[in-house]
Parts: sequence; C-alpha cells; structure tokens
Amino acid sequence: DQSRPPVMQRTLVIFKPDCVQRRLVGQILQRFEAKGLRIAALKMIQVGRELGEQHYAEHKERPFFPGLIGFITGGPVVVGVLAGPEAVSVVRGMMGKTSGIEAAPGTIRGDFSVSKQNNLIHGSDSPESAAREIALWFKAEDVLDYDLAGSGWVY
Ligand code: TYD
Ligand code: MG
Repeated sequence: DQSRPPVMQRTLVIFKPDCVQRRLVGQILQRFEAKGLRIAALKMIQVGRELGEQHYAEHKERPFFPGLIGFITGGPVVVGVLAGPEAVSVVRGMMGKTSGIEAAPGTIRGDFSVSKQNNLIHGSDSPESAAREIALWFKAEDVLDYDLAGSGWVY
C-alpha cells in the first residue's frame, strides 16, 4: 500500500554462509547502511540444525528443504536486525528475486549470485515474519533502539 505514510520497521537479515565464504559481508552491509538503514543488532554464529529448521519452517515440505538446511548450517553466518522506514520491503527490494539468475542487476542477488540456493542474503518477507524471526535469532534486549542523529558526538 503506497498511499499510507512510511512506518519504522525492523527486519531480520542473514548474511548466509556463501556470503561469509566469499567475503562479501562488508560490501553488502555497506549497501544497507548507505541506503539509510540502521544496524539494531549484529552477530556471527554457526547455525545449528534446530535453528535452521525453525527459521525455514514454512518450507519444511518443499523438495529443496534438506539442501537448504545443509547450506544454512554449512558454515558461519552473520545475522542482524536492520531498522528504518519500511525496512522490510526496502531490504527485500535491495535483495532482488530469490534466484540470482532472475534477480535484476543492481540488486544484491542480481549483482553477486547466479544461484537459487546460494543467494547470499535472507531478509524477512513481511512485518509478521520479521517479528517471528527476530525473536528466534535474538534476545529482546540485544536489539537496540538508538538515534543516529541525536548522539551529539558525531561531527
Ligand atoms: P524463499 O523464502 O522462497 O526465498 P527468499 O529467500 O527470496 O525469501 O526460499 C527460502 C530459501 O530457500 C531461498 O533463499 C533459497 C532456497 N530455495 C531453494 O534453494 N530452491 C528453491 O526452489 C526455492 C524457492 C528456494
Ligand atoms: Mg523467504
């Protein structure tokens, strides 16, 4: 709905194992910061099978599910929360289509991936998904609210 005023949102992003292996975490995080989103949480972890399966629970019955779980648990990830106006759809737009083959040039997947599975980045697909996923990956107190403009010591 383009007619309503923009709302501040949080969204979960995962820099997937291929992103870490290819040393693209900084470059892709830079795109989000340059866009104007704020980092509200960030950590590197090795994803276990249980967390991976919970995160991707909606795809449990899909044929690609076992491969997807093997992939997401196959190496460390960087996972974070980004905040900003319409952060959910802004991040989805910047990611591009699921398959790097179909994703438009200028998007993250379009610029850096030619794979459907190894597509570098996850972003929540709705505010409801974002709330569920943030609660799954982070303790509430580890997701910070702060004002980038008002700290007084940036010049
Ligand atoms: P999905 O939620 O459909 O894509 P997105 O990440 O764009 O929200 O699928 C989750 C992940 O599952 C996707 O990033 C890559 C993987 N996947 C496959 O490996 N094969 C497939 O055919 C699909 C649809 C997804
Ligand atoms: Mg999805």
